[in-house]
Order: sequence, then C-alpha cells, then structure tokens
Amino acid sequence: MKFRIIAKDFAIDLGTSNILLYKKNEGLIANEPSFMLLDENNTKVLKVGAEAKEMLGKTHDKVHVVRPIENGVITDFNLTEALLNYFFKKINPGFCLVQPRTLIAVPNQITDVKARALEDAALYAGSRDVILVDQNLAAAYGIGLDPDTASASLVVNLGAGLSEASTLALNGIISAKSISKGGDYLDKRIGDYFKNSLKLEIGKNTAEEVKNNILSLRIRDKSLTLKVEGRDLESAMPKEVEVNSGSLKEIALDYADSVYEMIVEVLEKTPPEISRDIKDKGIFLTGGQAILQGLTEYLSSKLSLKVSYSDNPLEDVIRGCAIILEDPDRYAKYRK
Ligand SMILES: Nc1ncnc2c1ncn2[C@@H]1O[C@H](COP(=O)(O)OP(=O)(O)OP(=O)(O)O)[C@@H](O)[C@H]1O
Ligand SMILES: [Mg+2]
Repeated sequence: MKFRIIAKDFAIDLGTSNILLYKKNEGLIANEPSFMLLDENNTKVLKVGAEAKEMLGKTHDKVHVVRPIENGVITDFNLTEALLNYFFKKINPGFCLVQPRTLIAVPNQITDVKARALEDAALYAGSRDVILVDQNLAAAYGIGLDPDTASASLVVNLGAGLSEASTLALNGIISAKSISKGGDYLDKRIGDYFKNSLKLEIGKNTAEEVKNNILSLRIRDKSLTLKVEGRDLESAMPKEVEVNSGSLKEIALDYADSVYEMIVEVLEKTPPEISRDIKDKGIFLTGGQAILQGLTEYLSSKLSLKVSYSDNPLEDVIRGCAIILEDPDRYAKYRK
C-alpha cells in the first residue's frame, strides 16, 4: 500500500454532464461523464464515468445508471460522497497522513444548504479543507481574463444542466442570473422531436450526438444531415432516419433566445462603469454549449457586442481552478 505524508491538493469541476479533476503540480488528471452505475439498493457503486454512461438505457432491474448532479447542483448527498470518494482514491491512492485541500467550483445560484452538503460530502470523502469557488469566476481565470482587477468581465457559462451569466471584478460576482436550461434541455427537446414528428424513439446519448453534430443557428447549415438509428414507435422495429439541421432550428432558436434574455437581465442589473468595460471587452462564453454552431454570431448580432469563447470552453472552469490553486494569493485579493 502506498504511503505519503501529505496528499496532493486538487480541484474539481463537478458538472451535470462532466467531472474534471486537476491535481496540483500535475495537471488535468480526469475528465469523465458524471454518471454512476449502482446496484438495485443504491448501496454499491459499480462503475463511474464513461463506463457508466455507456450503460445508459441498457440496464436491467438489478442495476441502474444515475447522475448525482442535476442542474449544476448535487441531488443526493450519499451519491456525491461516493462519487468524491472514488475520485479521491484515484488522485491520492494509499494512505496519507495529511489529507488534501480541495477546491470545488460551484454555480452562483447554489443554496447555502446545498453548498454545506457539498462541503460535508468532500470532508467525509477525505478532504482536510474545502474551498468553494464560483464557477464563472474560475472560468474567468481559465479564459485568461483579469478577474482580480477592477476591469469587469461578463462570463456566460453554458453547461448541460445550467446556464449562468455573471458580471465580475475584484475577485467577486457583481450581478448574476441563472436558468435551468442547458445541453440536457436541448437533448430532451431533440428526443421529443424524433418521437412526435418522426415517430422514432431514440436514446439520450443519441439525442446528444444529434445536438453536438448538426444543431446549428446558421441558415447556411440547414442542410447538415445525420443518419440516426432508433426504434420505430409503430412497428417497434429498429429503423434509421436521416435528419437535417433545418428541421431542428426552432429548438436551437428557443435555447439561444433564453440565453439572450438571461444576458439582457444581467446587463440591466449592471452599473454603468461595468457596462463600459463589457462594451470594450465583449462577452465570454464558456461551457460545452458555447460550441453550439452559430451561437456566438447570433448573440453578437442581437446584443451588438463582441461574443467569443476560448479554445476549449469545456476546460475553462478547471483551468481557472488550477490557477487559483497554484496562486491562492491572487484569488484572495479583495476577499475576506
Ligand atoms: N464537443 C463537445 N464535447 C462535449 N460536450 C459538448 C460538446 N459540444 C456540446 N457539448 C455539450 O455540452 C454539455 C456539457 O458541457 P459542460 O461540461 O460545460 O457541462 P457541465 O459543466 O457538466 O454542466 P453544468 O455546468 O450545467 O453543471 C453537454 O450537454 C454536451 O452535450
Ligand atoms: Mg459546468
């Protein structure tokens, strides 16, 4: 058995769809879908991550697949503790005399009760100290902005379960707004479209594949097509249909308009000095749904502001957590 005096500190982006882990001085060490395979009594964790996600829609009644995070926050204390335990062991295998410090990115809208439950889950799972960091503040670090200065930024995190827009400066959030509409909502709407319009039942993973491959807000993309396999609702037989981006455009527009309205609400709550900074710098999208084709152009033309995202928006939050972990004094400035 491995033995060490001090365990390595680490950071977690505990997302609805993906969990990313960063280990101090070592880098990104895990990037797994947030799925767990449990036994029928919910007492034993059989698989975690990609292996569990693959089993979605294929389980029998002795096992089932669950997601412990919904709309960006934990749903079940015991499941979260089990999940954290699994990852903690992966990071610091063996026995450690001094437990690690853990930094966890959380949404702005997390309630005190849920924040406390998360802290407790991380402590029970083996942390000596837990620091909860606002995920959009972390993303701002990850994008390479300057959230520790008086120059304000507007960060819009478009995740699987939650979309959140925040203005931030001096290491703090000035105004924020969240909606429970994200990638999962789009997947569900796509599944419903297949069921109602094409009489085909498709699995959640298939709906996600359709979304990530052909959903687009660009008019020129309307003929992007994908062959999709599912179960014919009338004959119950496997069937393949070809779907094009144009037929899903309304779903994309509904989502993009909700994101637009959320940003407008944040801008309305923003003091004029900050609005000026945002006009100069533009808006920064982060999270997996920032990649939705045509979204930056769509928002930019409706808001008359520059809208962009980084090279890897799925990793902005964890990269930001890493910066905070490596340089805690920078994050501590202007905070108590
Ligand atoms: N190229 C891509 N790779 C992975 N996910 C993508 C991609 N494009 C779009 N997505 C979608 O982005 C979402 C995942 O984004 P992200 O990892 O930021 O969410 P999350 O952090 O798990 O969720 P939340 O922040 O809401 O809790 C999923 O809905 C996924 O289908
Ligand atoms: Mg996220």
